[in-house]
Amino acid sequence: MNDNLHTLRCFGCGARVPGAEARPDFRCSQCGDLFEVEYAGWGQRSGPDRPNPGALKWLWRERRCSGEALDQSGVWRFRELLPILDNFGNAVSLHEGNTPLYKLRGAAKSLGIDQLFAKHQGMNPTGSFKDTGMTAALSVARERGFQWVACASTGNTSAAMAAYAARAGLRSLVLIPEGKIAWGKLSQAMDYGAVTCQLATDFDGCVRVLTETVKQASIYLLNSVNPYRLEGQKTPAFEIAEAFDWTVPDHLIVPGGNLANSSALGKGFRELKELGLVARMPRISVIQAEGANPLVRAFSENNGEKMQPVEAQTRATAIRIGNPASWRKAAKVIRDTGGWCLDVSEAEIAVAKAEIGAEGLGCEPASAVTLAGLKKLCARGKIAPNETVVLLLTGHTLKDADYTINFHRGSLLTEQELQGSETAINPLKRDALVVEPTAQAVLARLKGFGG
Ligand code: F0G
Repeated sequence: MNDNLHTLRCFGCGARVPGAEARPDFRCSQCGDLFEVEYAGWGQRSGPDRPNPGALKWLWRERRCSGEALDQSGVWRFRELLPILDNFGNAVSLHEGNTPLYKLRGAAKSLGIDQLFAKHQGMNPTGSFKDTGMTAALSVARERGFQWVACASTGNTSAAMAAYAARAGLRSLVLIPEGKIAWGKLSQAMDYGAVTCQLATDFDGCVRVLTETVKQASIYLLNSVNPYRLEGQKTPAFEIAEAFDWTVPDHLIVPGGNLANSSALGKGFRELKELGLVARMPRISVIQAEGANPLVRAFSENNGEKMQPVEAQTRATAIRIGNPASWRKAAKVIRDTGGWCLDVSEAEIAVAKAEIGAEGLGCEPASAVTLAGLKKLCARGKIAPNETVVLLLTGHTLKDADYTINFHRGSLLTEQELQGSETAINPLKRDALVVEPTAQAVLARLKGFGG
């Protein structure tokens, strides 16, 4: 690893350790907090190690036309800002990143916002934003000579890890909460050849078991406590800034589960600002599900300074997390950028997901909290009509087809959850119709839809 260029700095006490000397659980031996990757020379105003903004912007754009595998990755295209490998030849890539930024015209119109976009990280190779972090951290595992990698997961991390491990020729171990992840994600881990263990506990329980496991065997931990994951996950910030010609949007809205992604995007924008590539940071807001909202509670009780774990419960299984590891980092990003931390109900998530689907994009339930959160912020007068807002969609709609089908069949939500939401939900429902096999019968059905 490129220990000359980077060190790991404890987010809690500021202690620094060389990358290769971190403990297997990536916790600081002095205070138990998490690390962040820090690069030498970036803090100085000038000097040989400080990247040149103008040259970088030009180089990164040029690479989009390059035939080199590394340049075609939307993560490694920005490798000057993640010099974590000794040899970039060790990078394991599936052409991740370079994801689309779509205009959300329907939602923009109904909310009265001019410029509303969705950065769709579900368009990554395994269908979620986890690929950007996985290419980074798994490449470090390979460079360091590990044979085994492992993660505890609500599904997407395990799918990404299994795929990248298979590409690198490494073995992978997945711990998932039994019966609490979407089938699409489980099928991916199996398809890519991971050893997949379903544990009779929740995600937080899986994390506890895995933390013990990696202390007792030479297995490289690929959960987002691994700071190299965040180095990959910060690169969508670079893509967003580039897409807006290096003027950043006013507001970025991100779902919150284990809270690494919001932390990573905050780090990405912060580094762009420190290096003079952009003039300011966007406001970054984090949205959680009502039943898995420990950070929201922490903000309402003590401005996010202390967090009490909760027993998590939501159908957005990706973010069914009660004790998020990166909460301190995320809380700082929210405070530093003037963002908000909100929660949304099961009905609000379902409606927002169907609305994103109706715009021809689709996403998994956890991603839809962003639109549901934006609606709340608009209703509270927190967003001006001329603001540019980007929603970060984290997972592909095919990840959780059961959820979608149950929604359209009307069997997703309980009576109690539905109360007051029927008028929003009913026009969005599109159950598959059973129709006689004649053109006449099909045309008769169209009449009901104005056809
Ligand atoms: N959206 C999706 C689709 C996710 O899979 C996750 C997390 C999040 C949002 C939340 O991101 O944890 O960085 O705050 N999924 C993890 C997993 C925990 O195991 O796949 P976060």
